[in-house]
Amino acid sequence: MLYNSGLLKFRKISSPSNDKLGYLTPIECPNDIPFEIKRIYYIYDVKKEIVRGNHSHKKLHQVLLCLNGSIDIRLENFFGEKKFTLNDPSVGLYVGPDNWREMSNFSEEAVLLVLASEKYDEDDYIRDYDTFVEYNQKKYGGIK
Ligand code: TYD
Repeated sequence: MLYNSGLLKFRKISSPSNDKLGYLTPIECPNDIPFEIKRIYYIYDVKKEIVRGNHSHKKLHQVLLCLNGSIDIRLENFFGEKKFTLNDPSVGLYVGPDNWREMSNFSEEAVLLVLASEKYDEDDYIRDYDTFVEYNQKKYGGIK
């Protein structure tokens, strides 16, 4: 079981009378995502061999969207792990607290947009894997 994460399918608005217009995907709070957005940031120009992330958050909720290209995401938490490939700008990956994340295999010109529930706070990060395991064992060990 994967706790606290999952794919969200957003609307993809097109014009039936003119398919050259392309698509528009709106995201509104709280209808489309389960938190109020306080920050957005985006990651781009990442070389193929690079793995970013390698941390979890204690309180932060995020939605990750690959606006262009393709990016692999691996999530791990106390209950299991799951891999996703993001390659559709109308699909977001909700990532709640206590998920260790690794973003890899960025295609050329991939852009990862992140919608976040809080402003940047380094104290909310767990960047050491052993600390992450220990923290989650204490928090969830009793309910497995
Ligand atoms: P980090 O979250 O570690 O990036 P990733 O997980 O994608 O590898 O952030 C990288 C650096 O950027 C780190 O020094 C903190 C800084 N940063 C900010 O200043 N503001 C932000 O909103 C974010 C997300 C990071």
